[in-house]
This record gives sequence, C-alpha cells and structure tokens, in this order.
Amino acid sequence: MSEVSSSEAVGGEAADRAVRAERWRALASRHALLPLRLFLGITFVYAALDKLSDAHFLAGAGDQASFVSQTRAAKDGGSPIAFLLGPALDHPTLSALAIAFGELAVGLGTLLGLWGRVAALGGALINLSLWLTVSWNVSPYYLGNDLGYLMAWTPLLLAGTPDLSVDGYLARRAGRDRERGLAEDHVKRRALVDGGIAAVAIGGAGLLTGSLTRTFGWGRQAAAPVQSAPVPSAAPVPSGTAPAPTVAAASVPVGGSAQVKDPATGDAVYIVQPKAGQYCAFSSVCTHSGCAVDAPKNGQFYCPCHGSRFDAATGAVVNGPAVKPLPRYGVGKDGDKLTLGPLQS
Ligand code: FES
Repeated sequence: MSEVSSSEAVGGEAADRAVRAERWRALASRHALLPLRLFLGITFVYAALDKLSDAHFLAGAGDQASFVSQTRAAKDGGSPIAFLLGPALDHPTLSALAIAFGELAVGLGTLLGLWGRVAALGGALINLSLWLTVSWNVSPYYLGNDLGYLMAWTPLLLAGTPDLSVDGYLARRAGRDRERGLAEDHVKRRALVDGGIAAVAIGGAGLLTGSLTRTFGWGRQAAAPVQSAPVPSAAPVPSGTAPAPTVAAASVPVGGSAQVKDPATGDAVYIVQPKAGQYCAFSSVCTHSGCAVDAPKNGQFYCPCHGSRFDAATGAVVNGPAVKPLPRYGVGKDGDKLTLGPLQS
C-alpha cells in the first residue's frame, strides 16, 4: 500500500510540475513582445530627450550634427523622399522639435501601452523616414539601423499592447461594461474618451519633460561655434583658451592613434600617424549625423551609427552616407611630445 501511495505522490508531483511549466510557457508566450516593447519605448524616450538636450541638433547649418546639416546631406545624397525635405528645411527648428516630441510621444505610448498600435505606427513612420533619408546610402543595407527599427515595430503594429498596459486596462473594463449590459456605443465612447484623457495627461507630462530637457539641456554641452575658415598657422595653438592637449609621441604608433579632447568643444579628437613621422588629427564627430567614430583600424575611421568610413590619413569619406570629410586639426611635434593644433577645416 505504502509503495502505491508513494508512486501516486510522485506522479502527482510530476503532474504539478507539468502544469506549472505549462503555465510559465503560456505566460512567456503572452508576454513575448514585452522586451521588444520596453526596448523600443525606452529607446524612443531616450532618443527624444537626447535630441532635446543636444544643442548641436537644434543648431544651424554651421554645425555638422545639426538637423539642418543632416537633412541637407540627405537631400543632396539622393534620398528618395528629397521632395519632402524642402519644406522641413524651410522650418528647421519646428521640424526638429516635431521629430523630437514625436519620438517622445511614441516612446511614452509604447512604454505605457496607450493606443499601442497608433504608437507603433508612429514609430514605424519615423524609422521609415529616417531609413529613406539618413540611412539611405548605407551599404550594405543591413548596416542601416533604421531599417532594423522599422522591422522591430511590425510585431507591435500587428499585436498592439494588450497586456500590462493602459489599453489592456481599458479593454478589460469595456468587457465588464458589456457584461453589465451597457450599450455598445456607450462602451466604445467611454473607452475612447478615457483613452483620450490618458493620452492628454501623458502627452502633457511628456511635453513638460521635453520642454524642461530643452530648457536646461540636462547633462549636455551647448554647441560650440564651428570654425569654418582655415587657420593659417600650423603652430600648435589650441582652438580654445584652455591649454592645448599633448600626448607622448610614443603613444601614437604608425597606424595607431591617441585620443585627446578639443578644449573648445569637448569633442574627442584622434591624433594619428598614418605614415612614419607624419602626424595629423581628426575630429571623432561623424559628419553624417554627429555620432562618434571609432578609433582608426586598417587605415580607416568607422562610424557605428550608419556605417560611414573615413580615410585615417586624410579624413576623406571612403564610404557614405557621410558626404563631408572629418574636420582636421593641426599637430605640432616638440621632442617626444605631440600637441593638438588648431582646427584647420
Ligand atoms: S552618424 Fe551616420 S554614419 Fe556616422
């Protein structure tokens, strides 16, 4: 008898484990899109606040990282929606702010699951327009991250945000209203009005956050004026008033680099030695959309954002979407020390 009881107990435990495992599997399937939703929502909120706090993005045409410069580069670079970029360039500040606040709305809607399909459609349209502009010339195509983001929005566009979301709460409440026998018109109107109130509240909070970010530029530097005229002297004069950065010549081997900071802008600058005894320096700020290029490898700088490549000896564009070379600095050599010179182009 006791053997039978014990085998029954073992069988019962196994059945419990199977039920628990099945429950976990069902829960995992139900929330399969949650990591993607969190990633996209957080990324869009971050990208929006980053743009709003970045004085470069909202600066004028003289700043290579500005919305104007990026949009012009896309227009001149053969974007298939170039005809839409003219109006955006006519009102650059308004367009740049619309993009940033659009990203914020999409990010918050996605994170909170409020009108999730609408938010996903907004995100997909933003990434579609970025793919057709800033990422259009990226080769091969799969290095353009905007295409990847566009694809990532598709599951959310199809499935919406029914769980752990405002949409889910409103849907459950609508179900209860129907069970109570409320008219369908009334149920739908109530869901729409409450969704609208939530959207206005969340939109207001987003607008306030974005405006505060824009006003105080949390953690970001103001755009420094870009020196566009060549500086005649090749002497090691810094481009700001702070002392010019120096490095030991031994730390810049042939084909290698050392990183210093432009004292005027705080941007990283690579001092390189492409050939023995030939030193030069280039800004790390990619001329496409302002990302930081990697340290040179195999004679080229690589920008991880959209795949531009620049010649490490001249700063010239090897592979787009960037169309302008990296800004170049002078380098002075005194004994075993290299000193960053002025911005030359
Ligand atoms: S920022 Fe787009 S390629 Fe560098």
